[in-house]
Amino acid sequence: METYRNLIDGEWAVADSGKLFDVMNPATDEVLARVPESGPVDVDRAVKAARRAFEGGWRDVTGQERGRILLRLAERMRRELPRLAELETRNSGKPLVESEFDLNDVATCFEYYGGLATKLHGEVLNVPDNALSMAIREPLGVAGQIIPWNYPLLMAAWKLAPAICAGCTMVIKPAEQTPLTLLEFARVFEECGLPKGVVNVLTGFGETGAALVAHGDVDKIAFTGSLEVGKIIMKSAAETLKKVSLELGGKSPNIFFADADFEAAVDGALFGVFINQGEVCSAGSRVLVQRPIYKKMLDAMVEKAKTIKLGDGLDRSTKMGPVVSKEQLERVTRYQEVGKREAKVGVGGGRPKGAGLEKGYFVEPTIFYDVDNHATIAREEIFGPVMAVIPFDDEAEALQIANDTPYGLAAAVWSRDIFKCLRMVRRLQAGIVWVNHMQPTYVEAPWGGYKMSGIGRELGPWGAEEYLQVKQVHINLNEQPIGWY
Ligand code: NAI
Ligand code: MG
Repeated sequence: METYRNLIDGEWAVADSGKLFDVMNPATDEVLARVPESGPVDVDRAVKAARRAFEGGWRDVTGQERGRILLRLAERMRRELPRLAELETRNSGKPLVESEFDLNDVATCFEYYGGLATKLHGEVLNVPDNALSMAIREPLGVAGQIIPWNYPLLMAAWKLAPAICAGCTMVIKPAEQTPLTLLEFARVFEECGLPKGVVNVLTGFGETGAALVAHGDVDKIAFTGSLEVGKIIMKSAAETLKKVSLELGGKSPNIFFADADFEAAVDGALFGVFINQGEVCSAGSRVLVQRPIYKKMLDAMVEKAKTIKLGDGLDRSTKMGPVVSKEQLERVTRYQEVGKREAKVGVGGGRPKGAGLEKGYFVEPTIFYDVDNHATIAREEIFGPVMAVIPFDDEAEALQIANDTPYGLAAAVWSRDIFKCLRMVRRLQAGIVWVNHMQPTYVEAPWGGYKMSGIGRELGPWGAEEYLQVKQVHINLNEQPIGWY
């Protein structure tokens, strides 16, 4: 079994405490590897390395060179894809096909920001004076990046690529459950041209993340994870007035009008919440169905959900793997019990039985119906394969229910009436709105939430902007004194 080390200043380092912890395979409940449990001393070493790298040359590396490094990382990612996809599945539980899809997106993300690195620029402003006024963009400096476990390497890429593009250096902490693909990918950083210390990788629990947030020499924190931790990070970051960007999940409505294409609707509702075992920040976990098709659609979803094949993600016929950890299994099964008290069960509601499912952290794809939007299962993020089906009468009621949530990450609307769709698009309080689809995500398009789903945007030029700061430059073109005194 492999024992990994942290990457600090281009060297593989054990934790100062010497402590390690186990990383599990959620499909088998077996230990996969051991990684360092980093503490404040390790965090401080990594931040110092990132600072030295930034001041010692990285800040002067051209956009063209940073872009080329990113393109090399993309190419290398594609070459390593089969091996890393398998590791991603072993560590996270997700079906291999989904890991392959994710890692292709990782490569695409590095490519996109590789191209963007030569296109970041400032502006010349039309000020009322004989002067040249400019707004130029500069890197923020040292970024701390805290990653969740649901898309381990992809969420790392969404933070690494724009930060490299913008010219920052960074300390990145993968989730304690799923650090392996990032640690493996980090082996090629130097070969791809990343100077020592530009990207430092530290493994550890929440305490490691907290030390990074509290560190006085980190300029910015980028976080994806729970609302609860997002709030803690914002409070802690206030102490040193760090910039923060937060992506905090949601309780996204997936809205089906009676005039939607029926087959596409059934498929889209299931895909929206069962993909990646439901461990998706933008999961369409509230399925709103207009009354004329409510019963028919519920029955069709239930029938189709029964055919979802659970198993080890390495088996290519598997459509749903285990959830990521024992903790997450307990969390999801707890919500299943709450759901049974709050609503009616269409299908699932417990743990599956069957060969090969004994040891892993498997849960049944679950559909609750006749759910009240005030019920716990309609308000709290479950982050597992649990759907809450809610009926509605008309457009106004659909909107009222959809927006009645503290979250605002995503929403989807299904109908053949384009005018109705567009009216909904304008009124839905969500950072991402899909029409007649749910979940497609592109590196070109902004990703982030309204309301309590977060602050800031990832991907596209918006993603790079989070790692930049704007400097105003005023160049006086008069040669005379100001003449005031
Ligand atoms: P979490 O928010 O505790 O963990 C996410 C990351 O934050 C991990 O790297 C973790 O080590 C780190 N972290 C934890 N406490 C921290 C602290 N005080 N300071 C700095 N970093 C800290 O999420 P957890 O506990 O794994 O999952 C709980 C729930 O969070 C899930 O059921 C789901 O609802 C939500 N979640 C949302 C995600 C999203 O994509 N928006 C991703 C992961 C979880
Ligand atoms: Mg937590």
